Amino acid sequence: MKSLKKKIAAAVYKGITSIAPDPGVTEEEIISYLAYPPDGGMGDIALPCFRFAKTLKAPPPVIASKLAADFSCEGIASAEATGGYLNLRIDRSVFAKKITDEIVSGDKVYGSSDIGGGKTVVLDYSSPNVAKPFHIGHLGTTVIGHSLKKMHEFAGYKCIGVNHLGDWGTQFGKLTVAYRKWGSRQAVEEKGIDELVALYVRFHEEADKDPALNDEARAAFTALEHGDPEITELWRWFIEISIKEYKKTYKQLDIEFDYYTGESFYTDKMPAVVQELKDKQLLTIDDGASIVDLEKYGMPPCLILKRDGSTLYPTRDIAAAIYRKETFDFEKCIYVTSAGQSLHFAQWFKVLELMGRDWYNRLVHVPYGTVSLNGEKLATRTGNVVLLKDLFAEAIEKAAAIMAEKNPELAGREDVAESVGIGAVVFYYLSANRMRDINFVLEDALNFDGNTGPYAQYTYARTCQILNRAGDFKADAFDLNDDEFALCKTLSLFPETFDQALAEYEPSIITRYVLDLCAAFNRFYHNCPVLTAGTESLKAQRLALTAATNKVLAAALELICVRHPEKI
Ligand code: ARG
Repeated sequence: MKSLKKKIAAAVYKGITSIAPDPGVTEEEIISYLAYPPDGGMGDIALPCFRFAKTLKAPPPVIASKLAADFSCEGIASAEATGGYLNLRIDRSVFAKKITDEIVSGDKVYGSSDIGGGKTVVLDYSSPNVAKPFHIGHLGTTVIGHSLKKMHEFAGYKCIGVNHLGDWGTQFGKLTVAYRKWGSRQAVEEKGIDELVALYVRFHEEADKDPALNDEARAAFTALEHGDPEITELWRWFIEISIKEYKKTYKQLDIEFDYYTGESFYTDKMPAVVQELKDKQLLTIDDGASIVDLEKYGMPPCLILKRDGSTLYPTRDIAAAIYRKETFDFEKCIYVTSAGQSLHFAQWFKVLELMGRDWYNRLVHVPYGTVSLNGEKLATRTGNVVLLKDLFAEAIEKAAAIMAEKNPELAGREDVAESVGIGAVVFYYLSANRMRDINFVLEDALNFDGNTGPYAQYTYARTCQILNRAGDFKADAFDLNDDEFALCKTLSLFPETFDQALAEYEPSIITRYVLDLCAAFNRFYHNCPVLTAGTESLKAQRLALTAATNKVLAAALELICVRHPEKI
């Protein structure tokens, strides 16, 4: 629809300039005024003419009639004025041929582009804190982050995925103390990350009774900061165990990171940052700590050094941003975290600006809302959390049970159950605007009859099945009924829907598009027999629409990190 809108805008522009040579509006603006009337009764595309009334010095109905009178545009069958609107009807046959050709045999994936021109985008996402649980609260950063990566690739950017692991900080002191007191190599080797988390939780329980443990933990972390060989080795081992576990979850999501450069990676890069802040007279000492005062900007101070001189989360982020800019020369660096960290990002982005790094405005924080499971909120400290891997395991198990019932003969059922279970979780998560707080109910996510991942995957599998049965076909002439045309229109909206999702960093726009497309396809499928269509040309036209749906669904599902098996 994008290219048709362009042509329409050019034709409208021509019409307007013939009324007034200097109409004070651009073709781009005209494109943005074009609307899709909801029921299509008046036309397929409408242009409200109210906006031109002032500059053209005429009432909107008069402008609309003048424009309609000699409107001519390739792909538009008729133009009519109704009140202040110019209503256009698409030439269905031309449109269907063009759209299906472009989708099915175009030389690039429909909707993809090279507006990114190969420029680099760094995406910092997932980034769990080692030794703390990788829980469902991380689902957001993991799947939104990965989806944004796919979306930027789709738009022609070169993307670099960075896992900014929380691998530095006092939790390692706590973990070291806990491990030495209550842990064993064997238990950690056997149970992996679960044992680390259990030790971490135990530490907090014991420290409530015996606060001196906190001092021990601080001392252990200081020793780590000073390179104590034994603690350093433990620390490395804890991280290695943790990454191994994370990778299992990432594999289920088809996620691979380019770098696992966590917070510790920037240790040796921090003194230069602190020095620069000093040189630029941005640091003030407050109660022994070094801070950047941000009162003027309506924010609390950004903490750079603790009283004991150790660095903090924002310091490491500043060092990381500078490193990434120097290393990757990014066009954008995107950070996906819960909205709880919005202030943190606003603060240190400001500090970089004050440091005179004029690229600070290439840093983008993409926040998201909270998640609860069956109405229950998360609590990390107490160990009362749902781990991501457990949520996935449960989803896969439930998907397998449903499929054993629905399709017991299916070959490779286990793999498909994984795709369906995980796909259901991801799809459900990415259905709502990212800032909305989400209550996760697994049964809803897995409902094959709802607006869910399984429903979308099922629709995709249906298109595969039809196409496999059909064999070769060639659609030359199109003559669309209303259901076919509605499907075709929905297909044609994919590129502009994608553009909007990218501009707003909002994968849910794609998820909802997938649901629209599935609805349009299923209505078409219900009302228009494909393989048993009355004539060969009708059959070919319907197969072309099915093939186009198949391609667009696959592309869209990939963008939101949902697998699409050919059979379910
Ligand atoms: N590890 C942090 C957390 O779990 C997220 C890190 C996000 N990335 C960053 N560069 N600050 O809250």
